[in-house]
Amino acid sequence: MIIDQIVSRASVIPVLVIDEVADAVPLGRALVAGGLSVLEITLRTPVALECVQRMAGEIEGAVVGAGTVLTPAMRQAVADVGGQFCVSPGLIEGETCEGAIPLMPGIATATELMAGLAAGFTHFKLFPANVVGGVDALKAFASPFQQAKFCPTGGINAENAANYLALPNVVCVGGSWVAPQAAVRAGDWSHITQLARKAAALGRL
Ligand code: 3PG
Repeated sequence: MIIDQIVSRASVIPVLVIDEVADAVPLGRALVAGGLSVLEITLRTPVALECVQRMAGEIEGAVVGAGTVLTPAMRQAVADVGGQFCVSPGLIEGETCEGAIPLMPGIATATELMAGLAAGFTHFKLFPANVVGGVDALKAFASPFQQAKFCPTGGINAENAANYLALPNVVCVGGSWVAPQAAVRAGDWSHITQLARKAAALGRL
């Protein structure tokens, strides 16, 4: 699957930090049940790669990838366990749009965006979106960089997501708000499904 097929499947990509492997599949199923089928597991916990593997293998209808991918080796490791895409907070030196699985690099400035375009990327995470100009930055990037599409992430929530999704150069947004740590720890999957359902509806406004 190429990156535009992946991002076109969901207007909101949940950004997940999972501490316990046992939570991975129920969490993913709760999100898919609410209508969010593209799942980003951040490589920030020791069990993250195992979670990618379990979720990719066991959750029907999900497209499972990894976030916080910082090196070429991490991109390869995600591919090796069956992950379908990677997201990075920045540009990874030497990485291009070619690779085992699609990568969506993060950018915060015009210069970084130009470097990413030169490496063949078309889809970028604007990160941290709320700090580096948010909606106004994306509007400003639209004219000089007409070929670039964005998934703003960082500070996006149920209140401001629709403002981003209304922009023509935004294909989806990412955020952790749909899977609060407290709800994951409590195993409150029905609450997470409710949050996912509301988030999924934002893309249809
Ligand atoms: C991240 O990589 O942590 C994402 O940008 C999530 O940001 P958020 O927690 O502000 O949604």
